Amino acid sequence: MTVGLPAVGNGPRIIPVITLESADVAEPLAQALAAGGIRCVEVTLRTPAAEDALRIMARHGGLVVGAGTVLTPEQAERAVAAGARFVVSPGLDEGVAAGCRALGVEHVPGIATAGELMHALRLRLSTVKLFPAEQLGGVSMLKALAAPFPQVSFMPTGGIGPGQMPAYLAHPSVVAVGGSWITPSDLLAGGDFDGVRRLAAEAVHAAQAVERSGP
Ligand code: 3PG
Repeated sequence: MTVGLPAVGNGPRIIPVITLESADVAEPLAQALAAGGIRCVEVTLRTPAAEDALRIMARHGGLVVGAGTVLTPEQAERAVAAGARFVVSPGLDEGVAAGCRALGVEHVPGIATAGELMHALRLRLSTVKLFPAEQLGGVSMLKALAAPFPQVSFMPTGGIGPGQMPAYLAHPSVVAVGGSWITPSDLLAGGDFDGVRRLAAEAVHAAQAVERSGP
């Protein structure tokens, strides 16, 4: 029985991974994503604007916002203070895991091997980000890794686009799929928020089609 990612709730099992160069776009972006049906996003801490962007997006009532690319416990603490409701890392780090536990916030570490997954389980983390999913072998890698760990929920991320997403979502161990394809940098730089809304709506429809087709 997988535990899941409470942040996703009953919303679509898609988590846009967002990297913003300027916090100015955070509000219109939050509106566009929510209008497209997205309910949960990850803002990566890769730019100087990230913390402000996270704070602005977290204030938007329609979205549950997590922090991504969290590399240290200090970053986790700042992100949670800014409104992050979950914390994602590209890899597994005991300090970040302990920091998130102390903060009472869900932590989703990246894993790429069975050994890393066993380490995550030892740290009582049972929702993991399979990263970078496509580069690791895609859905066949997911299936091979999920088989011995039926108690684990996966959030595959990395190299996934609209073409690959449905096959991941159809796997029973997948709690959500993450990726940057809904918020491409060219649309953000050009202020094309209607384009983002369209990409979000397409992804949400595709995810709903997977839910309708059942296990
Ligand atoms: C991440 O940090 O999760 C990835 O950068 C997202 O991967 P993608 O850009 O290949 O979708």
